[in-house]
Amino acid sequence: MILDGKSVSIKVLELVRDKVSTLPKLPHLVVILIGDDPASKIYVKNKQIAAQKVGIKSTIINLPDSISEEILLNKIKEYNEDSDITGILVQLPLPVHIDKNKVVTAISPKKDVDGFTPENVGRLAIGLEPYFYPATPQGIIMLLDEYKIPIEGADAVVIGRSNIVGKPMAQMLLKRNATVTVCHSYTKNLESKIKTADIVISAVGNKIVRCKMDKKNSVIVDVGIFKDSNGRLTGDVDFDLVSSSAGYISPVPGGVGPMTIASLMYNASKVYE
Ligand code: GUN
Repeated sequence: MILDGKSVSIKVLELVRDKVSTLPKLPHLVVILIGDDPASKIYVKNKQIAAQKVGIKSTIINLPDSISEEILLNKIKEYNEDSDITGILVQLPLPVHIDKNKVVTAISPKKDVDGFTPENVGRLAIGLEPYFYPATPQGIIMLLDEYKIPIEGADAVVIGRSNIVGKPMAQMLLKRNATVTVCHSYTKNLESKIKTADIVISAVGNKIVRCKMDKKNSVIVDVGIFKDSNGRLTGDVDFDLVSSSAGYISPVPGGVGPMTIASLMYNASKVYE
């Protein structure tokens, strides 16, 4: 069965739109885009389109690659203090001369719709409710829940340990009582870990999931998105090979991508809570 992120994301966006229409004041999301990385530009554009659809005000702040860290930090401070702005997102990756962790830490945790600040990450880690959960893992949980996939007690394998996906994904699965294995470039016998899992979530950016699954009800979530040698968008999972032995699989495109955007809009609408 296909985990149809496109259609589930439409449902989530409709719920967000209904909610936004009842809010006393319009949420206002500021998206900071630095430089002109083509992939980041597309992501930011998609976020803006989704915000328009659900009635959330969005402002894209385009800054040049050459911007200094200090100016960027001052801008974030200004947006933190601006009561009209309810959400702040700095599109990653950043140019190498800017310290990503300093930038993320500068965002007010209550405006941190990405859930990347130390306060929100720490809250998730110690079992306090964060103000926001990171969009991609939250969107994946929404997708699994929509298909009523049991998480409690499941053997979940997360491939990749990034701050954006792998680490928060592992925390969120733990919170739902899965048994979580986090795999990365130093992991031994990756294939045997994948094969025996109930849930596999791959966020690497390489065709790394290429085996038959042992369990016919296993669930494969593909977070990877990159261009193959023919220039076609593809994911981490060899879809034909893996889908013949798994129960559920998310496609690329049309799986996790749209769920991430819908989940971000959910976060952007949550500011008044
Ligand atoms: N770059 C890739 N994914 C993300 C994301 O979820 N948030 C931000 N801010 N940048 C990203």
